Amino acid sequence: MRIGVNKEHAEGERRVALTPDAVARLAKSGHSVIVQGGCGSDAGYEDDAYADAGAEIGFGVGDIVGAADAMVKIGTPSEYEIGAMARNSAIIGVLDARRNRELLNHLAETGLTAFAMELVPRIARAQSMDVLSSQASLAGYKAVLTAADSIGKFFPMMMTAAGTIPPAQVLVLGAGVAGLQAIATAKRLGAAVSAFDVRAVVAEQVESLGATFIAPPAVDDAEAAGGYAREQTADENVAQQEFLAVHVAKSDVVITTAAIPGREAPLLVTSDMLSGMKPGSVVVDLAAETGGNVEATRAGQSVEFEGVTVHGPVNVPSSMPYHASSLYGRNVESLINLLTDEDGNFAIDFEDEVIDAICVTHDGEVRKTF
Ligand code: NAI
Repeated sequence: MRIGVNKEHAEGERRVALTPDAVARLAKSGHSVIVQGGCGSDAGYEDDAYADAGAEIGFGVGDIVGAADAMVKIGTPSEYEIGAMARNSAIIGVLDARRNRELLNHLAETGLTAFAMELVPRIARAQSMDVLSSQASLAGYKAVLTAADSIGKFFPMMMTAAGTIPPAQVLVLGAGVAGLQAIATAKRLGAAVSAFDVRAVVAEQVESLGATFIAPPAVDDAEAAGGYAREQTADENVAQQEFLAVHVAKSDVVITTAAIPGREAPLLVTSDMLSGMKPGSVVVDLAAETGGNVEATRAGQSVEFEGVTVHGPVNVPSSMPYHASSLYGRNVESLINLLTDEDGNFAIDFEDEVIDAICVTHDGEVRKTF
């Protein structure tokens, strides 16, 4: 199969969908890879490294797209890329398919087979293809560094001749993939860490990282299908906010990571709760892109709210493009291995749970409704 990689077109996107090490392994499996010159330069991967790995370097976006049996992307394809792709070729990327019906209609009309990486099911066999996990882990790590960099305090306890400084109090809301990585990173920096999640199963994972799991008295477990959280009821939201207000007020740093697949992020930290925090405290809202967990969040900005800094970073993995691309490339490589036979040709088996879940358009049809 001929695999194409272009430089990503979305503003601020520094990642690349395949790195030279993945290209070398795909070439070994019998695939040929054509990459756009400069596609990896923002992530630290130069054309020479791609050429050494066996890739052909192309320059015109249209030439690469037109020559590829499958285009591999981080985000969605551009209008131009879609128009230049051969009918029956494939596109693989994070397509935001749940919220992007228009794109799916367009891909189907164009006769493209599209695989939405964000729909990889949360099952053991598919872990190597799970881009949500690989990228969320980077985001959790970076959120802690952002907080540590912008707070005027130490994270660890410091015993100095000039006195003893207590450890920073870090609260992590949502202990999924990003949250657990944030907990581990804040612990490594020496903070005193506590965490909350609506899924009861998480308590043990939080405690195994040396953090404290805080839970409101008598709540129902909110674990839903696929290990994700269900949406909270209005009553549950009120009870949760009352309970969290006390813990937020005690924290120097709050990192929020709570998400519900395909929905707006739940509001966890109200402006009243922010008002209760000490001046100089810092909040990092990793759910900024889907509406935010914090009332004062402005996506893509850092704002001051009554002395509290609220960061609403977007596309955090792109701020660590070298490793984000390397992990993403491995996820894509795993998927390509699943989609092809031993001769390197497409062998799409819709009986396969992973392929069935992520293939959103095929044969002129949109295959999924959400
Ligand atoms: P996510 O990004 O959808 O949500 C992040 C966290 O926020 C979740 O832990 C969720 O329970 C929590 N949350 C949602 N609403 C909340 C609220 N109102 N208050 C507090 N917390 C709230 O989820 P993520 O991190 O992508 O994964 C969630 C889970 O999926 C994992 O912890 C795991 O159980 C499962 N998973 C399984 C995998 C596998 O088996 N291959 C791979 C990755 C994840």
